[in-house]
This record gives sequence, C-alpha cells and structure tokens, in this order.
Amino acid sequence: MRVSEDMGDFDTPESWSDFIEGPVYPDNAVPWLHDPAYSTILEHPGLRDCIGRHIAPALQQAIGLVQAMAQVHVLDVVRSHRPAIGLSLGFGSNAQEPYELLKACELNCVHAYEWIGEHIVEAARACETLRVNEPRLTARIRLHHGTVSDLSALNTSSIHLIYTANMFNREIPMSGDTFKRSMQEIVRVLAPGGCLISRGSAGVLEQYLAQYLQVLLENPLVSVLQKEP
Ligand SMILES: C[S@@+](CC[C@H](N)C(=O)[O-])C[C@H]1O[C@@H](n2cnc3c(N)ncnc32)[C@H](O)[C@@H]1O
Repeated sequence: MRVSEDMGDFDTPESWSDFIEGPVYPDNAVPWLHDPAYSTILEHPGLRDCIGRHIAPALQQAIGLVQAMAQVHVLDVVRSHRPAIGLSLGFGSNAQEPYELLKACELNCVHAYEWIGEHIVEAARACETLRVNEPRLTARIRLHHGTVSDLSALNTSSIHLIYTANMFNREIPMSGDTFKRSMQEIVRVLAPGGCLISRGSAGVLEQYLAQYLQVLLENPLVSVLQKEP
C-alpha cells in the first residue's frame, strides 16, 4: 500500500509487503511442514543467525579469484544479460543479503527464498527503509516465503547468478530429499553461462553439482560453479 507518494513516504504498516511475492504462511501451516528440518530450524533461532554479514567484500573476493584462476569474468557474464536476474537462497536473519547481492553484482532483480516467515517480514521491512530513495525497488527485490527445494515460481533458465551462504553445511539440518530437490532446482533455474556462488558449504553441494556445472573455484570458504554457456 502506498500513501503520500509525492512525499516519498511509504511507511504504512502494509507497504513492506509489496516486496513479498506470494503468501507468507503461519509457522504451523507452511506447505513444507512435513520436512523434519523445518521444525528443528524453527525451534532453534541460532540455526538462522546471520553468519555472512556484509556480503559485498566476499563476493568481490570470489569474483576476483575466479577471474585470476579460471579466466571467467563472472560480472561480465552477468552484465551480458539484461535484465540480469539473481537468486539468494536461505538469507535467514541477514535481512540485507538480497539487497547487497543486487547492488554488488549490478543485477536488475533479485529473487530471495527463505522458509522462516519472520525473516521474510524482517527483510521486507529492511527493503522498505531503502524504498524512500529507490521508489522502484519493489520491482527489483522479490521475497519468497518458500523452501529452496521448490523454486517453481521461477522459470527454467531464468537466473544468471545464484548466491547461497552457510546453508548447505553440516550445522544446518537438511533431509536428503530436500537437498537433492534443491540441487535439481538450482540446475533447472540457472541460465546457460549462469553462475552459483556458495559460501560455507561443506563439499557435498560442490560434489553433487559438479555433475552438471563446471567448478570454477572450490576452497573451504567459497565455491563458484558455472553452467555451460
Ligand atoms: C545459518 S542461516 C544463513 C543465513 C545467511 N545466509 C548468512 O550467511 O548469514 C541458514 C538459513 O537457511 C535457511 N534454510 C534452511 N533450509 C532451508 C530450506 N529448505 N528452504 C529455505 N530456507 C532454508 C534457514 O531457515 C536459515 O535461515
């Protein structure tokens, strides 16, 4: 809801919801209630803590390493598509993660998935504070209350850059089925030449995706993979 648009004032109780695509479900009525990892993560807020903080320096470092070691210019690949679309998976309490991805990688739009509803609302509120200076931001940040194992709101081959941090590791519970479906969805939505940047994953993501994507960089802190152009 937008009021006093001429004054740049969007701070009504509902206006932040413009950033959210689709419903925000009550905690006990999410479609993924059957997933055993969901209730564990819901019960333990520590599992959703922001580990990544400001992501721009880490993104720049990963992109620089890939350029030096694999001669692939990730930002050039992204910039060659207009509109360039990004995807943030599991941003948790790092409410600024989707916005920082948008800015650091010069994307036109970022879709962002998180399955804990309170973090969707927090991120929408954080985006709302930025909207005063960027009135069209609602078209550029799209928040989805959903599981990363079902990205069906996104078209096949529609995403040019995926960012995920500290989700596919040993600390965050995830069933084998959710993991496998998530990997299949990542492969499906990535456009030819599109890249995935994963921070803090523990090797299992890299091992699975190496069947479908080229590994450009793999070290304990960050991995970068690319779909064949
Ligand atoms: C440790 S937090 C990482 C937060 C942030 N990316 C960072 O680096 O600080 C992991 C997040 O992944 C989310 N997550 C785990 N499994 C998920 C799933 N299947 N679908 C959506 N989000 C999930 C959790 O709810 C949690 O918020």
